[in-house]
Amino acid sequence: MAEKVTVTVLAKMKAEGEKITMLTAYDYPFARMVDECGVDMILVGDSLGMVVQGESSTLPVTMDQMVYHTTLVARAAKRAMVVGDMPFMSYQTSVKDAVKNAGRFIKEAGAAAVKLEGGAAVADRIKAISEAGIPVQAHIGLTPQSVHQMGGFKVQRQEERLLEDARIVQESGAFSVVLEGIPFEIAEKITKTLSISTIGIGAGVHCDGQVLVIHDALGVNEGHVPKFVKKYKELAKIAREGITEYVDEVKSQAFPTKEHSFK
Ligand code: KIV
Repeated sequence: MAEKVTVTVLAKMKAEGEKITMLTAYDYPFARMVDECGVDMILVGDSLGMVVQGESSTLPVTMDQMVYHTTLVARAAKRAMVVGDMPFMSYQTSVKDAVKNAGRFIKEAGAAAVKLEGGAAVADRIKAISEAGIPVQAHIGLTPQSVHQMGGFKVQRQEERLLEDARIVQESGAFSVVLEGIPFEIAEKITKTLSISTIGIGAGVHCDGQVLVIHDALGVNEGHVPKFVKKYKELAKIAREGITEYVDEVKSQAFPTKEHSFK
């Protein structure tokens, strides 16, 4: 079996200039495909709320839901590193809550790392979780859990603040940082400045790696997708064709045939 992706492997990839791939997954079948296709990291994102649960933001997602979905993904992932995304209010309330909830992803769900949103404001959480022996991926720029504070899902352009946040999350012990919704020149500067890997989503080609929400990338999500998404396939279209064919065949009694029946 191929070498398991760990923080050490990721550090080596950054040092050698090999791009890192990350996709989200929320269940066993998708996680298995993602893992077997060679994706390096699987994020069990709190985007779960929007693409699986049908919510309009990530805010309602709970810790128990994240632990459940991470368990399904971790069961499938043989090579990829599984990262559990800490949901809204699972780490903002206190350092103690942050460490306790990060621990649940590792102990109950089988993740190898956690991700949380924020820069300088969550430096003490990143430090405490890392000191507990849990690898932390930070997430700066457009941070969906702060949608109300940002006044919507908007590109973040404050260069000095972004550079400062990136520096602080690295100093606090993060092994990697997601850069979401920021101009590509700023993402390039951050990537050149940091020794830890930057994983971009809507942050241009110069990041050390890329992440996308799988339901967006494969066209499972039929709603609005942000400008930064590339749709690699149209799975919803294929599924609709199959479902419609099934309905027609049952109605017309073309299914089941003898082939699908017992004597
Ligand atoms: O929840 C998620 O899927 C994420 C990615 C968009 C980075 O945080």
